[in-house]
Amino acid sequence: MSPRLTVVVGVTGGIAAYKAVGVIRALVLEGHSVHVVATEAALRFVGRPTLEAISRNPVATDLYEGVAEVRHVAIGQSADLIVIAPATANTLAKLAAGIADDLLGNTVLASTAPLVVAPAMHTEMWRNPATVANVATLRSRGVTVVGPASGQLTGADSGPGRMEEPDVIVRAALRAAGLSPRLAVSAVPEPVADVVVLSERRRANEASRRPRGGVDLAGKRIVVTAGGTREPLDPVRFLGNRSSGRQGTAVAAAAQARGAEVVLIAAHLEVEPPEGVELIEVQTALELQEAVTEAARSADVVVMTAAVADYRPAVTRDAKIKKSEAGQHLTIELVANPDILAGLSATKREGQVVVGFAAETEPDPSTLIELGRTKLAAKGSDFLVLNQVGWEQGFATESNEVVVLRRGGDIVMEASGSKLSVADRILDVVV
Ligand code: CTP
Repeated sequence: MSPRLTVVVGVTGGIAAYKAVGVIRALVLEGHSVHVVATEAALRFVGRPTLEAISRNPVATDLYEGVAEVRHVAIGQSADLIVIAPATANTLAKLAAGIADDLLGNTVLASTAPLVVAPAMHTEMWRNPATVANVATLRSRGVTVVGPASGQLTGADSGPGRMEEPDVIVRAALRAAGLSPRLAVSAVPEPVADVVVLSERRRANEASRRPRGGVDLAGKRIVVTAGGTREPLDPVRFLGNRSSGRQGTAVAAAAQARGAEVVLIAAHLEVEPPEGVELIEVQTALELQEAVTEAARSADVVVMTAAVADYRPAVTRDAKIKKSEAGQHLTIELVANPDILAGLSATKREGQVVVGFAAETEPDPSTLIELGRTKLAAKGSDFLVLNQVGWEQGFATESNEVVVLRRGGDIVMEASGSKLSVADRILDVVV
């Protein structure tokens, strides 16, 4: 059981306010105590009775109600977590400036709880330098910014600005409050991991019969690396890692199902590659670098799922290393392999999308995200798919749980479920 939090959900005045109901509902179903603080403008978009019925608590709006209880600070002080969804451009500006001219502004200023905002606005407003600066200010103060997603907006236009889906916001919010999403999102419907009765090839073929996103990658060339490189020490031994290639193979299968022409660069897959992809098999990091660099020249998207060895033995021996010569201690000198993803990102073509993966053993969810942000900045890719791995987690399993960061560090998507459904969600982001 995850602990019961007191969560303040701030709802501000945008059309996405109707989606706040989903956020509130998911938090309540998770067992948290939810108190809605709505702005006057929010109540023009969604009715107070709806918010009260779903949150199971009165909705607070007015700064001058409940003055005797000093409500303008009491709500913020009692909060374990504040989630503002949707957060309009105006709200972001007020938060960045510390303006407290309504109950929500006072509540945020009076609180030391983690603050999570889910922006929603038109693309032009989101890209306006004022909003960009406000979001940067908020982020520098530790505020978690979830989304916005890209897609159809209120009018005929589309682009980044759509409020993220409620399940994504709730996951990010609980993570910001220090709850592991693994424990915390059971109330939000999740893609259920496929039952492990199908061979990988049948699974891939099933994917091509039931494309979720239509053929929205038709005509696109996608290069996916998968598996783990092996760096030879001698003719019989190597340095390797535990990557099975399942997630990368699933990305290849999902991309193919969506109409893409797929090149799969495979380093020691433990599963069969999907039929119909162009398969290039490699052994070492240097071979993988050569193959992916060449294939990337004509690719629209490059997805670096492979676990690339960071180091290789300085010398590969032609003959087996003998115990008789090494004795009780054997020291092997390693030299660094090139960072392939960083190289691809630095030389990518205009319009090409480069996606990296990062497997980290860090158990703390917020530190994990920070590690991801640092890695993303170092690699320079457009997206980084972050997952937690451990002795029992991440490798050779049929399911996965990921957070996707985009350049700049925003969380743009979280997904869990079968590696195929996770692959499909990643491609949604790429599309
Ligand atoms: N990667 C790469 N070249 C390397 C090492 C990693 O292209 N020499 C890519 C991986 O394919 C992955 C991403 O970089 O997409 C992150 O890999 P990861 O092993 O998590 O990061 P490292 O750069 O190796 O950093 P560290 O091991 O210190 O966490």
